[in-house]
Amino acid sequence: MDEIAPETAEWLVDDGRDHVTDATDALDHGESELAVVARLRATGLSTEQSGAVVGAASARRRARATWPAADRLLFTRTALEQASDPQVSTWRTRRLADADVWDLGAGVGGDTLAAAAHGARVTAVDLDAARLTLLRHNAAALGADVTIVHGDALRVRPDAAALVHADPGRRLGERRVRRLVDHQPPVGALVRAHAGVRGMAIVLSPAVDLGDPDLPPDAELEFVQTGGDLREAVAWTGELRGIDVAARATLLPEGHSLTRTTAEGRAHLQVGPVGEILLDVAPAAVRARLHDRIGAEHGARRIARTRALLCLDAPPAPDPWVRWRRVHAVLPVRAKAVRAWLRTRDVDAVEFVSHGMPLDAVAWWRALGRPPRGPTGWRIELVRMDDGGRVLLTREASMADG
Ligand SMILES: C[S@@+](CC[C@H](N)C(=O)[O-])C[C@H]1O[C@@H](n2cnc3c(N)ncnc32)[C@H](O)[C@@H]1O
Repeated sequence: MDEIAPETAEWLVDDGRDHVTDATDALDHGESELAVVARLRATGLSTEQSGAVVGAASARRRARATWPAADRLLFTRTALEQASDPQVSTWRTRRLADADVWDLGAGVGGDTLAAAAHGARVTAVDLDAARLTLLRHNAAALGADVTIVHGDALRVRPDAAALVHADPGRRLGERRVRRLVDHQPPVGALVRAHAGVRGMAIVLSPAVDLGDPDLPPDAELEFVQTGGDLREAVAWTGELRGIDVAARATLLPEGHSLTRTTAEGRAHLQVGPVGEILLDVAPAAVRARLHDRIGAEHGARRIARTRALLCLDAPPAPDPWVRWRRVHAVLPVRAKAVRAWLRTRDVDAVEFVSHGMPLDAVAWWRALGRPPRGPTGWRIELVRMDDGGRVLLTREASMADG
């Protein structure tokens, strides 16, 4: 059982909360979800109520990893999956501090609560009445004063003085979408519906195509990364946009942020031979088209004209925007050659990475005669160079010299 009916959400908030606490405790102590559901059914709860309780308990346990207040909050499993990571929403909603904000597609309140914690006065809008009921509970649990509107993000009319924040759904079934027309609600329709507002923050797929026709014109596009993972893009418009900022890359939790201005031409690094060191520029910086500038600061060169792959002849100075790997071999794209090289070394587990090359990892493993045992620092990197493909055997920095 996952998403719930509005009346079940009302029941969960009013009478089901203690059941969620007990069910969470039971799951913490190793009881199975099925056993907990059976026990709840035996006490007279309906199938839907029992499923909602176990769904909320299981989501709460998962939320603990990132939500400090998880044990006081109510989620459905899907609403939690769709909710912004608090670390990311805390960063994003800083720009909304102390303002009147309409949060469109508020779900169970990840962004609403983060904005409220920065002093924003939030009106939370969603089509899903059950999620809004859980949001009302979550806001009360954290002492946040939120106005709730059950309605369509494309039809509500925020006050003229308000800022608009929107976090459209980015899944179609199991599939993540990147085209803005497939976001829910669609981004182009959102921008047109709220064309007159002071400023918008719209959360987008981090894989958004920079040529997507529905990207708001003149927006600042921010790419946000936590650890090594690219998490989201945000289009900032109107007053929310940084002055003359075309793109920004942000690294969390440190809060490092680099910008590219509208006036700035792109640095273009020279292409040269593969060196001793392969530079991994942070994906947020690559998406913000800042990799050549970062590479230039390290005296790096590109190894191919069309790939954001940079190299050096010696390890770079410490820099949060780059990681590096030592290049141990440059080989033709032939399993035989790779196998022969691996045999001369004590390399027993590797991962594959493709840079613009078709990659059939299963076929490679078959040809190399090695089981896919997961990475231990070694990589087989298939790279499309300007004059054809190559295989680079690389090893991560911390292991490279050990
Ligand atoms: C990605 S989730 C939002 C998650 C939320 N920001 C959070 O952090 O918890 C997208 C939400 O948009 C809502 N939604 C989709 N289309 C909508 C529309 N046309 N109007 C209002 N809400 C909509 C969905 O019900 C869903 O709750």
